[in-house]
Amino acid sequence: MRPLAGILPSVIWRRLIAVNDLEVITLPEYVTSASAHVRSRHGILMLNNRHRLIRDIQKNNPFPGLHGHQVWQSSFMIMDYLENNPIAANQDILDLGCGWGLLGIFCAKHFAARVTGIDADEHVFPYLHTHAEVNNVTLATDHRRFDQISEDQLLTSDMLVGGDICFWDEMVGALQNLIQRALMSGVQKIIIADPGRQTFRRLADYCARHYGGELLPWRLEGKQRHSGYLLIIQNPWFVTGSR
Ligand SMILES: C[S@@+](CC[C@H](N)C(=O)[O-])C[C@H]1O[C@@H](n2cnc3c(N)ncnc32)[C@H](O)[C@@H]1O
Repeated sequence: MRPLAGILPSVIWRRLIAVNDLEVITLPEYVTSASAHVRSRHGILMLNNRHRLIRDIQKNNPFPGLHGHQVWQSSFMIMDYLENNPIAANQDILDLGCGWGLLGIFCAKHFAARVTGIDADEHVFPYLHTHAEVNNVTLATDHRRFDQISEDQLLTSDMLVGGDICFWDEMVGALQNLIQRALMSGVQKIIIADPGRQTFRRLADYCARHYGGELLPWRLEGKQRHSGYLLIIQNPWFVTGSR
C-alpha cells in the first residue's frame, strides 16, 4: 500500500483556541505581547508560568526533572550576544539542553536557522512547541543526551548553542567529548553560556587549552539584569567551503 504521506498535500497544522462560544482564533492571534503573562524579549514572545497555555501543559504532563521547568537567563545572554554579533542566515543549529527552546526559537526567527532542540528530558518539548507556534516558527526536537548525539547530526550542523547546560560534574566530560566530536565533524562555532559555575569554568579552561575557546564576561542590562559568561569556540580547523 502507498504511504499516506506520499499522496496527501503537505499540511501546516495550526492550533485553534476558542475565545468564546462563537470565536475561534489561531495561537499567534491569541498570544500577543500585550496579552497577560506574556513578555517580549529579543523580539520573541515568552509565556510565564501563570499563562493558560503553560498551566495546561503543566496539568497534562510530568514536571521536567532536569531543571528544564523554566527559561534560564543564560539563553538570553546568548541572544544578546547574537544580536550584537549576528550569524549568517539559514544555518543548521543544535540547541543543546534546549529546555523551553527560546534560544533556538530566537535563531529560527532572526536568522532563519533550521534548529533542532535536543534535550535528555522529553517533558520539555510541549513547552518548546507551544513557544515555537506562538512565535510562528517550527523547530525539530530530539530526545537524547549529549553523549548520544551522533556524528551524522554533527556533520550536518553549522553551530551548537546551549544555555545553562554545564551544572553537574558528569556534564563536563560529556560536553568536552561532544565539543571535540563537533569540531572534528566541521561544526564552525559553539556558544555555551553560564552564570559562572565551577563545572562550566572547568569546561571553559579545557576548551581554551585545546581549541582556543574564549571566555567572555557578559552582562544583561535593564529590567532583567544578569551577568555571567559566554564560552565561544570558533573551530580552529574549519576552512570555508571545506564541507
Ligand atoms: C538549566 S536547564 C536550561 C534550559 C535552557 N537551555 C534554558 O536556557 O532555558 C538544563 C536543560 O538541560 C537538559 N539536560 C540535562 N542534562 C542533559 C544531558 N545530559 N543531555 C541533554 N540535555 C540535558 C535538561 O533537561 C534541561 O532542559
